[in-house]
Amino acid sequence: MYSVECENLTKVFVEKRGVLRGRKEVVKAVDGVSLKVSEGSVFGLVGPNGAGKTTTIKILTTLLIPDSGRAWVEGFDVVKEADKVREIIGLVLAPDKGFYPRLTGYENLVYYGRLYGFSKGEAGERAAQLLELVGLHGDGHRFYDEYSLGMKAKLSIAKALINDPKVLFLDEPTIGLDPLSAKKVRALISDLAKQGKTILLTSHNMWEVETLSSEVALINKGRVAAHGSPRELKQQLGLSYVVEVEVVGDGKPAQDMPFSLGERGNPVVKVKSHSPADDLVKIIDELRKNGFQVGFVRVHEPSFEDVFAKVVSG
Ligand SMILES: Nc1ncnc2c1ncn2[C@@H]1O[C@H](COP(=O)(O)OP(=O)(O)OP(=O)(O)O)[C@@H](O)[C@H]1O
Ligand SMILES: [Mg+2]
Repeated sequence: MYSVECENLTKVFVEKRGVLRGRKEVVKAVDGVSLKVSEGSVFGLVGPNGAGKTTTIKILTTLLIPDSGRAWVEGFDVVKEADKVREIIGLVLAPDKGFYPRLTGYENLVYYGRLYGFSKGEAGERAAQLLELVGLHGDGHRFYDEYSLGMKAKLSIAKALINDPKVLFLDEPTIGLDPLSAKKVRALISDLAKQGKTILLTSHNMWEVETLSSEVALINKGRVAAHGSPRELKQQLGLSYVVEVEVVGDGKPAQDMPFSLGERGNPVVKVKSHSPADDLVKIIDELRKNGFQVGFVRVHEPSFEDVFAKVVSG
């Protein structure tokens, strides 16, 4: 069984456009999305602005009802068994919303704990633990409206964890965070996955998605344009490594070795490759045979950003 599964989800919005907002336009926000997320995995949803990621998450977390298609979380139907789904999920949507500004961070968490049916004592204990977990223990007594964006983001993750959910939905959990805070949030996400939670996250930081996720779906215009592990996606799209070898010695490399001048003034052989280890050995052998020495060697792996660019630009 998959932890999160959906089949052919669709959702259409009617947007009012034009100067007087009199013109109606139909937007297919989600146009047949199917996904399968394995238990205990981190699954990344990526895609350009307006691709349908947040709408998909809202459907999976019972906030929106799809026009058609079906979805399940831990086997529960998100429409017919919405209450069951809500009990076992945690959600971070727009991390700076959903809190009472004139309550402290701690009080906000206690409030949500009470909503989940914890006693006052239990809710307090849980709030304190979660503040510690997200690194806000020193700030629990401060009013929410005094929190910085990063502190708000951390508090919203704490809130999402209050019911010890099996499945976490994190819509851009690191948006607006400074690099160090983002790093801490990423470490927290990996830890939660190691504890067996299933995590579905979105981000515009391709590197972040690649490092955290075992599987990624790229959504474009409401459809899944590509999916697989980051490695598989790179292979599917035929993205290649680039191998660079600096040549030291007199003369120039043979004709069949494309080179340009490198930063140290030496020729650098640069080739695209699908098996960089083999190609490196061949290039180095060839150079040595011709009496050259090898300076630096570099291998550039195709980035997930390249995958994104290739799919989105068709
Ligand atoms: N409540 C709404 N009413 C009308 N249109 C909406 C509504 N919510 C989303 N849309 C439209 O649906 C489409 C998908 O939006 P969505 O928020 O799912 O995109 P996204 O992939 O999350 O984008 P981003 O990366 O910018 O967060 C967009 O065209 C958006 O304008
Ligand atoms: Mg969004």
